[in-house]
Amino acid sequence: MANFNNNFQINDEYMTPFHVWDDIKHFIPNDKIIWECFPGTGLSKCHLEQLGFNVVSDKDDDFYHTNKGDIIITNPPFSDIKNVIERLIHIDKPFILIMPCSKLTTQYFQQIFKHKSEHLSIIIPKKRVNFLKVVNGKPQPTNSCNFDCFYYCYKMPHIPSITFL
Ligand SMILES: C[S@@+](CC[C@H](N)C(=O)[O-])C[C@H]1O[C@@H](n2cnc3c(N)ncnc32)[C@H](O)[C@@H]1O
Repeated sequence: MANFNNNFQINDEYMTPFHVWDDIKHFIPNDKIIWECFPGTGLSKCHLEQLGFNVVSDKDDDFYHTNKGDIIITNPPFSDIKNVIERLIHIDKPFILIMPCSKLTTQYFQQIFKHKSEHLSIIIPKKRVNFLKVVNGKPQPTNSCNFDCFYYCYKMPHIPSITFL
């Protein structure tokens, strides 16, 4: 994995299990190119491709200096969410991010989305997501995640404001 010169943190090295994208595949348009802009080990791209989607994702691309695809689907580095969201709003592409519920009530999140709330939809997973911890370069299952996540969707008008899976 590339080591990006930003707020990179070891706690960001958790990958997304297959069911996370499988559970919402019916909400993902299949005629668009998906940009998995935080590749990590590349597992999430593989999962999305297994589900039949067309995905671009390059481990050497720095998210902050790249702009690809039609829509963004990813699990971003949770340590840098404010900057990630600011960049996403700047490039103005539809997105689905899996990230902690607690991000919704941060000051920065409220400021950014206060006047854009009509573009925001939230999907609530059926159960807590246990991300895959990277050990010696390989994602390994865990069962001890201590927070819950939402799918945060932006400019995806076919997704209702709130969906319980
Ligand atoms: C939470 S992990 C998720 C990886 C993958 N999206 C997944 O769902 O399995 C976030 C990844 O983003 C990487 N990352 C951090 N800053 C980045 C940047 N500026 N550009 C691209 N990737 C970055 C981290 O190294 C980490 O591997």
